[in-house]
Amino acid sequence: MEYRALGESGLSVSVIGMGCWPMAGVGWTGIDDNASLAALESAMDGGITLIDTAYMYGRSGESERLVGRAISGRRDEIVLATKCGLYWDGTTLLRDSSRKRVLEQVEESLRRLNTDYIDLYQVHAPDENTPFEETAVTLAELKEQGKIRAIGVSNYDVAQMEDFARHAPLHSDQPPYNMLIRDIEAQILPHCRDNNIGVISYWPLYKGLLTGKYGRGHRFPEGDSRNDDPRFQGEELARTLDMLGRMKSIADEYGKSLAQLVIHWTSRQPGITSVLCGATRPAQVEQNVDSVGWELSDEHRTQLDGLVSELGG
Ligand SMILES: NC(=O)c1ccc[n+]([C@@H]2O[C@H](COP(=O)([O-])OP(=O)(O)OC[C@H]3O[C@@H](n4cnc5c(N)ncnc54)[C@H](OP(=O)(O)O)[C@@H]3O)[C@@H](O)[C@H]2O)c1
Repeated sequence: MEYRALGESGLSVSVIGMGCWPMAGVGWTGIDDNASLAALESAMDGGITLIDTAYMYGRSGESERLVGRAISGRRDEIVLATKCGLYWDGTTLLRDSSRKRVLEQVEESLRRLNTDYIDLYQVHAPDENTPFEETAVTLAELKEQGKIRAIGVSNYDVAQMEDFARHAPLHSDQPPYNMLIRDIEAQILPHCRDNNIGVISYWPLYKGLLTGKYGRGHRFPEGDSRNDDPRFQGEELARTLDMLGRMKSIADEYGKSLAQLVIHWTSRQPGITSVLCGATRPAQVEQNVDSVGWELSDEHRTQLDGLVSELGG
């Protein structure tokens, strides 16, 4: 495993992070708690230190509870990241980053995670109904109290990060990023590089699509949100699968799977600190761990960049 500094937080994180959304079982099917716990164990055994969950992963904190069980006894090895500011009201997802809500959520997350501190506490998404100053000052206070060690945001644009950072130290951002979704290359990545803000990217495999394993005509079980995602259908899917097919020969040269090549490419983009890979089974985690620790030749990197440009462009 490789490790990098997370902005100016003083924390060092593994370049591959463990994403704990799929195991929450919301909009995902085929989840088994024992397999999820085994996946978390494989992650830690494989040198993954960054474990990312959130208050809203699971209708009532299922993901945080599983993480809490998995890390007990190994807390010191882990950079534990969770998020506040989103919650479920029945099946409706609401945003609220007010001081009152954040202070309630942090206590509940600490209980679910069975710990007395969170390494990285992130605002899950911008809440336009709460001044960013209010949220930032609240997180700065939690840091002063030692309940959290570093402060992050997620899904913020540059102006929102600048506003937030006027009132509290900002150590990281968590945006979506992969071969298909590259918007952050224009402004967010340069901003984070210039200001030494760590970037923990999510969706490297775009929910499994970029593994190439979900071919034309694939239907997920009922209740799986990927059935309604246009990227898993029609022309868009055909274009992606075609391009992945053309990448396969590069992956083969290194004895890697397409998933490993895709994650590797993501981890090598300038400004990316860590790549969060969601997984629900140990075998997936073991593969994801082996996405780094090796390099492409210059020639293959250029070839791959060319294919990615065609895919995104
Ligand atoms: N901040 C935010 O707003 C936000 C939003 C979304 C996600 N996230 C974070 O980012 C993490 C990653 O996102 P994600 O889990 O949705 O997407 P992802 O990592 O792109 O895809 C995860 C899925 O890919 C498949 N997979 C993973 N490794 C594989 C392998 N080696 N071989 C074959 N298939 C593999 C699995 O799908 P199957 O289960 O179908 O096998 C897995 O559930 C989340 O878990 C979460 O921590 C954050």
